Amino acid sequence: MLPRDRLHRLITAERERYVDSHPASLALFGQARHLIGGVPMTWMSKWSGGFPLYLAGAAGATVTDVDSHRYADFALGDTGAMAGHSAPAVTAAITRRAIEHGGITAMLPTEDAEWVAAELTRRFGLPLWSFSLSATDANRWAIRLARLVTGRHKILIFSYCYHGSVDETFAILDDDDQVRTRPGNVGPAVEVADTTRVAHFNDLESVRAELEHGDVAAIVTEPALTNIGIVLAEPGFLDGLRRLASEHGALLLIDETHTLSAGPGGMTATERLQPDIVVLGKSIGGGIACGAYGISEQLAARVAEHAEADLEDVGGVGGTLAGNALSTAAMRATLSEVLTEQAFSTMIGLAGRYAAGVRATIDRHALPWSISQLGARAEYRFAAPAPRTGNAAAAAADPELEEYLHLYLANRGVLLTPFHNMALMCPATTTAQVDLHTELFAAAVAELFGN
Ligand SMILES: Cc1ncc(COP(=O)(O)O)c(C=O)c1O
Repeated sequence: MLPRDRLHRLITAERERYVDSHPASLALFGQARHLIGGVPMTWMSKWSGGFPLYLAGAAGATVTDVDSHRYADFALGDTGAMAGHSAPAVTAAITRRAIEHGGITAMLPTEDAEWVAAELTRRFGLPLWSFSLSATDANRWAIRLARLVTGRHKILIFSYCYHGSVDETFAILDDDDQVRTRPGNVGPAVEVADTTRVAHFNDLESVRAELEHGDVAAIVTEPALTNIGIVLAEPGFLDGLRRLASEHGALLLIDETHTLSAGPGGMTATERLQPDIVVLGKSIGGGIACGAYGISEQLAARVAEHAEADLEDVGGVGGTLAGNALSTAAMRATLSEVLTEQAFSTMIGLAGRYAAGVRATIDRHALPWSISQLGARAEYRFAAPAPRTGNAAAAAADPELEEYLHLYLANRGVLLTPFHNMALMCPATTTAQVDLHTELFAAAVAELFGN
């Protein structure tokens, strides 16, 4: 049993320590009068402690705040900085592009775009790519293509998935397996059940039942859920999705925005998936805004049959700054020099070390918790065995316990992502940083359980 009273006392002490040791961040936060929620983007309020740390600088896997504290950063901008902060190859490439050559955005291609697309083809197998400035937009635009070619208007998603602020994906299944809008969904345009069918991850029968309605344009999924803790796919599930999609005339969109952590070609490569569409974003520009979607030859041919679809102007696919010269230069540098095969093997090894450290503490205290690893990413969840559906993972959330662990770590120089308990390794992460987390996690748990 979790000692709740003790947990509350510990949280209070950690909150006080956080306030006392971050006066400069607190002062800057107090001065913010013209920012919604006091932050440049409302998610930045999510950090534990009541106010965010203000960034002074960051390099590799280390962040420094305005109070001069240094942190081993396992949040890595919730994956945006999976290549490490300001990786030298990326900063050199964007400096070359912006300063030496000049030209950040011009609605004109540079040769970097074809290089990046060819590299993504080598890694993911899909032959044709287009760029965006976020994974959200890549998902949105790809979903439009899927609706265009299938003539169907619904998408199928998994309960408690997350794919960015894509309206159609804000649905869950309630306890009676009815489609509901996700709690907290801000200003939905229409009933989500009008646009979306929802199944349970790892449950092919629930997928089949939804596809049988014959109105699904695409299954949109991560190959492992990563936004409600990590929910790994069970053997046969991903192959089953491919088979069911084909049998029912739906496309399969694999969103690799987070699961790229599995390796250079994401889980598409490690699991030999055969998607019609792959979506990427966040990390592939080394921190510069970018996103991408790749499509199969067959899908491209089906799109080309629709001469009426305006892909070149105001048809709803594309954005002014998408594919700009700066972001394609950043993607080229990241893919050619930073997120390389060799880098992934180091990152995955470190995530294994991180997971082993966490597991040792879980075992020592016989806690009903689990840790899941997905390549360079690992995450603990307060359930054992690890949940196999989004709903089960959602039920295992414990915001108080999360706050305590996040604050305990932040107060001692370790950052986890503010969204659940994710830790990510970048090429610059060190064993010393991983071992620091192991030590602090063990100490935090020992303080809580009293031994
Ligand atoms: C799987 C997945 N897809 C897409 C996105 C959207 O990314 P962005 O917010 O950068 O558009 C996210 C964000 O967390 C994500 O986890």
